[in-house]
Amino acid sequence: MAFLSATLDRVKPSPTIAVTTKAAELKAAGRDIIGLGAGEPDFDTPDNIKAAAVAAIAAGKTKYTAVDGIPELKQAICAKFKRDNALDYTPAQVTVGTGGKQVLYNAFMATLNAGDEVIIPAPYWVSYPDMVLLAGGTPVTIEATLAADFKITADQLEAAITPATKWFLFNSPSNPTGAGYSWDELKALTDVLLRHPHVWVMTDDMYEHLAYGNFKFCTPAQVEPRLYDRTLTVNGVSKAYAMTGWRIGYAAGPEMLIKAMRKVQSQSTSNPCSVSQYAAVEALNGTQDFLAPNNALFERRRDLVVDMLNQAPGVVCPRPEGAFYVYPSIAGCIGKTSAAGVLIDNDETFAAALLEETGVAVVFGAAFGLSPNFRVSYATSDAALEEACKRIVGFCKSLN
Ligand SMILES: Cc1ncc(COP(=O)(O)O)c(C=O)c1O
Repeated sequence: MAFLSATLDRVKPSPTIAVTTKAAELKAAGRDIIGLGAGEPDFDTPDNIKAAAVAAIAAGKTKYTAVDGIPELKQAICAKFKRDNALDYTPAQVTVGTGGKQVLYNAFMATLNAGDEVIIPAPYWVSYPDMVLLAGGTPVTIEATLAADFKITADQLEAAITPATKWFLFNSPSNPTGAGYSWDELKALTDVLLRHPHVWVMTDDMYEHLAYGNFKFCTPAQVEPRLYDRTLTVNGVSKAYAMTGWRIGYAAGPEMLIKAMRKVQSQSTSNPCSVSQYAAVEALNGTQDFLAPNNALFERRRDLVVDMLNQAPGVVCPRPEGAFYVYPSIAGCIGKTSAAGVLIDNDETFAAALLEETGVAVVFGAAFGLSPNFRVSYATSDAALEEACKRIVGFCKSLN
């Protein structure tokens, strides 16, 4: 009898975490490494949020809480959905978990049976297909190509839907491409879903507040209110509020689904960290003034990275609408050889040679389901970004 579960054979460890760990190890060994792998802001959690956490500790708010969130936080989440997305939810329709990651996982665990299909546009956040597999479902990917600005079309969605489709998983702005769907682009997708009443929408709005230029964020239940009863709107405080380590994510949707997700959480982790929940109340209810300057900073970095990477021979880097990632194609580098003699036959060998020969850590595209590309996280200092891009350009120039 095998000791380890057969389910584990179906999934792989997170490649983004692997790259971050490898970069940290090389750095610790004394190498000059610039990590562009991590998906988290480089600035600190705002002081008002930290102060709320300190006050919660001082007040002894350090015990178990309600399994899926304290009432104050659920209220703050309802107010956020109303304020930012014009969506009406009651606290009974809201669940809070240990990061958006747990919330998504709970939703799959609570709904998927063997054979149930989940449509996932690729490139996707690395965890989506593996979470579906862990929960016993079947991921079905559709390609969002560079030529289509990394967005899927209504026809592609229509063609992917079968009687076994349970969820359509939507993520805009996207990790890893930064692509954001406009209202009209999203409406084209929700029109398809209206024709298929058995399909539910799970929308991962984690990068809602990281939107640049004229791009305006929108979310499925807002664009098509007739989908409200079969939409789970997932969000969190990790990215916009620089709170990745606090581990608070949340979702709102039909009460029956929220209850089922609570049941999963009640038998696994119980409540998310009590202190973090009080910090999240302040994040959502407190000043939002730092969002605009942070966005201005990220937009400037996006432009810096896009402009520099497009100078690299063989690289094409589109300018995305949001998040803090770009996802350049390296189609023009495939088949070439690096200065150290490595044949670049796919994006994994490209990323490995780049790290080995220049000390720049990026995540290869195959991890996200669309190749040949790599993902750059530009949530790091201007100086580090400039130096890293210089090295990438130099590396690509050296290929022959
Ligand atoms: C698209 C997307 N969804 C969800 C998450 C999970 O965020 P967290 O669990 O930190 O709230 C991430 C984090 O990288 C992400 O990129």
